[in-house]
Amino acid sequence: MMANRLTITVLLAFLAAQSSVVISCNFPPELWCSSEEIAKTCNVVKQCAEWSAPNSVAPKVNFTLYYESYCPDCQVFISGQLHEAYTAVSDIMNLTMVPYGNAMETQKGSEYEFQCQHGAIECQGNLYETCILHYAPFPTAFKTIYCMEVSRDPVPNAQKCMEKMGVNYEQVFTCANGSLGNSLEHQMALKTDALKPPHQYVPWVTLNGVHTEKIQNKAENDLKKLICDTYKGTKPPACSQDKPTLRSCIRE
Ligand SMILES: *[C@@H]1O[C@H](CO)[C@@H](O)[C@H](O)[C@H]1NC(C)=O
Ligand SMILES: *[C@@H]1O[C@H](CO)[C@@H](O)[C@H](O)[C@H]1NC(C)=O
Ligand SMILES: *[C@@H]1O[C@H](CO)[C@@H](O)[C@H](O)[C@H]1NC(C)=O
Repeated sequence: MMANRLTITVLLAFLAAQSSVVISCNFPPELWCSSEEIAKTCNVVKQCAEWSAPNSVAPKVNFTLYYESYCPDCQVFISGQLHEAYTAVSDIMNLTMVPYGNAMETQKGSEYEFQCQHGAIECQGNLYETCILHYAPFPTAFKTIYCMEVSRDPVPNAQKCMEKMGVNYEQVFTCANGSLGNSLEHQMALKTDALKPPHQYVPWVTLNGVHTEKIQNKAENDLKKLICDTYKGTKPPACSQDKPTLRSCIRE
């Protein structure tokens, strides 16, 4: 177990608070909880268990965003609340993005034809982002999509954003233009159409699989707080930092 200065400080503070503990070993503090043997020797077995347990038990909060690439409110949500929350508390947040939104699909042979609310360019943007999500892991996929959405014109900015984040754009364009992208986008359609209740607008969010108006409002007003409040484990430090949200005039 790697112990850095902060964890040692926290450990020492924790042990200092346990007035009954008698430390009687020759190991330096950063090693006390590194193995059960050393913990036994140093008489801190119980403390090490309490100290390390909280973070390891709580599962991440599932948060899913259903959206479409050219909807202005989706762009505002991704570049505002979602970006802020994901940047601060990605450790406790399992983010899933589903770029399809209010699109519709029709089967034509073995492929699907998509009609998008904001026209053909939006279908193209959805396909790019679907293929980015297929190839790039988080957080890279999120950062790339954020870069596209914050530009307000995702398609012409796609290549630049992928280059910036080190995503292979040729691979993504090939995917988006072929049968792989078509079938991945169909999966996004199925996920969206499986929503209960069905979505009425986008952005549309679910928290641990659940959508309510209350959850939606909390997500739009302070997503970081919603994730922190929902998380059952020890809150990461970012949860207690109340940063005023800048909603506009951010120089890019
Ligand atoms: C994260 O969410 C995806 C579905 O969106 C799910 O398949 C996966 O199991 C989740 N992971 C965790 C750690 O909850
Ligand atoms: C997409 O495919 C079409 C036909 O299959 C082709 O004409 C076009 O050049 C391709 N576009 C890209 C960006 O690869
Ligand atoms: C998140 O989703 C995964 C996959 O569906 C599930 O196994 C897990 O229990 C969920 N986590 C929470 C906190 O609900």
